[in-house]
Amino acid sequence: MENKRKMMMFCLLLAAISSPVFTGEWKASVAKNLDALIKSCVVIPCSYTHAKDELPHSRLRGIWHLPAGLDQRIYHDDQTTILENYRGRTKLLGNLGQGNCTLEMIEIRDVDNGPFCFRIELVETGTETSKIDKFSFVDSCVSFKMITEPPKPTLIPPKKAIQGHPYTITCSVIHTCPSHIPQLTWSRGTAEEITEVHREIYQGTWEAQSTLTFITEEKDDHKDITCTAEFFGGRKSTEKLTLYVKRTENYNHIIIPAVVGIGTAVIFAGLCIFMLKKYKNRIAELQSQEGTVWNRLSRMSRRIKWQG
Ligand SMILES: *[C@@H]1O[C@H](CO)[C@@H](O)[C@H](O)[C@H]1NC(C)=O
Repeated sequence: MENKRKMMMFCLLLAAISSPVFTGEWKASVAKNLDALIKSCVVIPCSYTHAKDELPHSRLRGIWHLPAGLDQRIYHDDQTTILENYRGRTKLLGNLGQGNCTLEMIEIRDVDNGPFCFRIELVETGTETSKIDKFSFVDSCVSFKMITEPPKPTLIPPKKAIQGHPYTITCSVIHTCPSHIPQLTWSRGTAEEITEVHREIYQGTWEAQSTLTFITEEKDDHKDITCTAEFFGGRKSTEKLTLYVKRTENYNHIIIPAVVGIGTAVIFAGLCIFMLKKYKNRIAELQSQEGTVWNRLSRMSRRIKWQG
């Protein structure tokens, strides 16, 4: 009798272990820790896998709750069943049918540090007495590290700025709200000069990056470039950098006066040659004229002498 009972208990245990709920076919993966910027938003990445042999008439229900109790809900598709503090602030971004339980929380307050836990319920529908197969991932909770000041963007400039050469500067900021990406703006530059990249660095933490490329000019020297990050909710942070433009070597200060000098000399020389030529003819003319006049005069004087 005692043995029989022990055997039954063992069988029950075995059955329980081999049921999909306990074999580990239900698994959730939730980010453990995330930074949360007060007044902004956070997206909690969450995914789960469920039993392959899904019940025909069933519906999935995702719930997020505080560890204190299953009734301490921060998300439920029925808004009236969640804690007042969280009403209207949480939204399931993921598609539960695809194993995605990603949650968005907006208007973050300093008391929202968590932990927040995900729970999935398989609700059988179509029968009078709804049978609920529940599974709660109480070990899959996320905690927030509250950030009071918006993080400053990081500026990565090239080593040198050379006049007339392309200059590429990168501005990036870390955040945890990919559903509302922080906006990066520059103090200068047109749309064609700016490119943006958004990527996940590690689970739930993202980097928004903006790259500005322009050709440096002499007037850019000692000018400031600023990059501003505006987070969802309106919080802003700015980083500044001063440009030092290396001038390209030029000899204009030598070449220009030299060209002007040589030019002037050539013009003068030309004028002189022209004048000399002109005068040569005139002198020759004068000399020949002088000759005839002299001859005439001497002839006249001889004639006078002879007559006298
Ligand atoms: C889950 O859903 C979110 C929001 O739609 C999406 O950004 C994310 O890529 C999804 N995750 C997976 C693993 O598909």
